[in-house]
Amino acid sequence: MAGKIHIFDTTLRDGEQSPGVSLNIQEKLQIASQLAKLNVDVIEAGFPIASKGDFEAVKAIAQKIEGPVIAGLARAEKKDIDRAWEALQYAKKPRIHTFIATSEIHMQHKLRMSREEVLKRAVEMVKYARSLCEDIEFSAEDAFRSDPAFLYQVFEGVIAAGARVINIPDTVGYATPIEFGRLIKNIKENVSNIDQAIVSVHCHNDLGMAVANTLAALENGAQQLECTINGLGERAGNAALEEIVMALHTRKDWFSGATGVITEQIHRTSTLVSKLTGVSVQPNKAIVGDNAFAHESGIHQHGVLNERTTYEIMTPESVGLKENQMVLGKHSGRHAFEERLKELGFSLNKEEIEACFVKFKDLADKKKTVSDQDLEALLSEKITEIPETYVMEYFHISSGNKTVSTSTVKLQKHDALIEEASTGDGPVDATFKAIEKAVGMEIILAEYFLKAVTSGKDALGEVTVRIRKNGTLYLGRGISTDIIEASAKAYINAINKMIYTEQEDKGE
Ligand code: KIV
Ligand code: ZN
Repeated sequence: MAGKIHIFDTTLRDGEQSPGVSLNIQEKLQIASQLAKLNVDVIEAGFPIASKGDFEAVKAIAQKIEGPVIAGLARAEKKDIDRAWEALQYAKKPRIHTFIATSEIHMQHKLRMSREEVLKRAVEMVKYARSLCEDIEFSAEDAFRSDPAFLYQVFEGVIAAGARVINIPDTVGYATPIEFGRLIKNIKENVSNIDQAIVSVHCHNDLGMAVANTLAALENGAQQLECTINGLGERAGNAALEEIVMALHTRKDWFSGATGVITEQIHRTSTLVSKLTGVSVQPNKAIVGDNAFAHESGIHQHGVLNERTTYEIMTPESVGLKENQMVLGKHSGRHAFEERLKELGFSLNKEEIEACFVKFKDLADKKKTVSDQDLEALLSEKITEIPETYVMEYFHISSGNKTVSTSTVKLQKHDALIEEASTGDGPVDATFKAIEKAVGMEIILAEYFLKAVTSGKDALGEVTVRIRKNGTLYLGRGISTDIIEASAKAYINAINKMIYTEQEDKGE
């Protein structure tokens, strides 16, 4: 096994293909910048030909994010490769990732191409991509269900044509660990020029074996592991980065080789991805679930208090969960606030600190203590800021169990103030209807989710909504100690994102 294990993160490409997930450029940049802090080796930033938004996001990431290799996906077609290169050319370390399917099912029913045609196309397109960019990755889509002899031929051809990385996906999550490990071993033994390329794997989780298959591949010679934060991805998702990395970190006695991932950044990255995508993490999810380090039973608690290692195989600190040493409150000054932000790993400029300090003071007036989770929620609101077409000035509700709920809202749009009122089925419904009237749009609310950031009666409420327009979903978030206010903020945030995305798509 190789010493260095390359971590290829595809949260922004395969992860973004999850149903209901749609990130705008600012959000993608924010995630890419956090992935760079996590120190992954490759960030797959998107699929540039898929849409104008995808293209612009890959280009922005290529221009702004330093450290990791920036990859962009392209089918084995000239126009895809040209578009990918157009976006990637700005990166210090660009990579074109091109793919074509090699299984009989895909070649016959999807591509309608013969083996000979697929082989010829793969080789030609790798050669073409290589004429533009030094670093080329080639994927044989549905590799696990492909005829191994044909796979060897394709890989040999693309390596000779200049591919630096060959990727072996289990596209439909069909493999089991021993079989998948065997396939990797066979590829290493049967592709004559394999030593000229890095062997990569990409496992989907349809049968819940993506991480196990990835680790089995590593034990059989894979050097690059493709994965996503929180296991996000098409259908049941991809192999989860945090599980792979912590398995390697915790079981150094078993696995040889090491990743360069800064494990203490894992928790922050997981929270950010979950917030921006609106896909919550199940509480018992390994490594990043809320309960991953919680000990409920008395026997376990007793054991951990005496000696942590009785029931803890890794520490919460190793994934970035810090014991809360200091709680801020309304008497905390700017210095304590800034120090806490630094300890939490945020680096903000002066204006950003000022804006957050105002929000913090406002919150501290409403809540007795402001915890790290509260601060992170406040900052993530700031981080995901997009141009605000509508800003809420004021709202008023009248509600009760025997009265019809009424809500009045006043929104600011540039210099104009718009006031509208509506009745509804409860205060949230009335407020949403009043907002719809004010913005003059018919909006379909697809999802509404409320959760408390911390415990206690004065906890911050965090509302996530998804609204739908022309088949596209837009996510909005709002936080407040008042859940109607949090709901209104989330709704307006989703509307602003919809307007921003539509402008982005038109290139305005
Ligand atoms: O799952 C898959 O086969 C893919 C390829 C495009 C790498 O995502
Ligand atoms: Zn995939």
